[in-house]
Amino acid sequence: MLNIALPKGRLGEKVYGMFAAAGYECPSVLENSRKLIFENEEKGVRYFWVKPSDVAIYVERGAADIGVAGKDILLEYEPDVYELLDMKTGICRMAVAAPKDFHDNKRKTLKVATKFTNIAADYYAKQGRDIDIIHLNGSIEIAPILHLSDVIVDIVETGKTLKENDLEVVETVAPISARLIANKSSYKFNVKAVEEMVKSLRKIVEEKA
Ligand code: PRP
Repeated sequence: MLNIALPKGRLGEKVYGMFAAAGYECPSVLENSRKLIFENEEKGVRYFWVKPSDVAIYVERGAADIGVAGKDILLEYEPDVYELLDMKTGICRMAVAAPKDFHDNKRKTLKVATKFTNIAADYYAKQGRDIDIIHLNGSIEIAPILHLSDVIVDIVETGKTLKENDLEVVETVAPISARLIANKSSYKFNVKAVEEMVKSLRKIVEEKA
């Protein structure tokens, strides 16, 4: 039985659809209940819904063999897992954004508000830029409007949130999409079953492209 951690929410439902199309269906997963664990013994899979940012924790610690996590989480926390496949869904980008009238003075320390402090720190360290990081947990877009920060580092998907708050992308930091990840020792132990799953999922990803 492979334990699979899915990110709760719209992305997770899409991703489950890909697993089902790849031959790993478990119809009860989509039942509208408060249940969190679902099993299809015949197909050898047990799915469970977890908070998207927790998927990598379950997989790294072996509570899940397999999971689907955003590249943003993988870049930020660098969990010790194998990244097996780009699912090419949940596509967005990590970007620096600022108010439309923002002019960067490179001699001044830049105030950066973000949930992704490691990604932001790495990005500016590579440029040799001095920054002051302000860690926030959500509604990051408000920070520059209220002069809490000069810029933000955040996820941009459609750009609607930025637009509605008079912000714009200044630079792209990294492209983001959902990735299939595996626990390292479980991978070695279940290599045949996991590789078969990757192969079937890859086919579905390619068909969708
Ligand atoms: C993300 C991100 C932006 C928004 C971008 O938030 O932090 O606020 O999506 O999407 P858009 O470009 O399509 O407008 P999310 O809804 O994932 O949750 P969060 O507020 O917890 O970050």
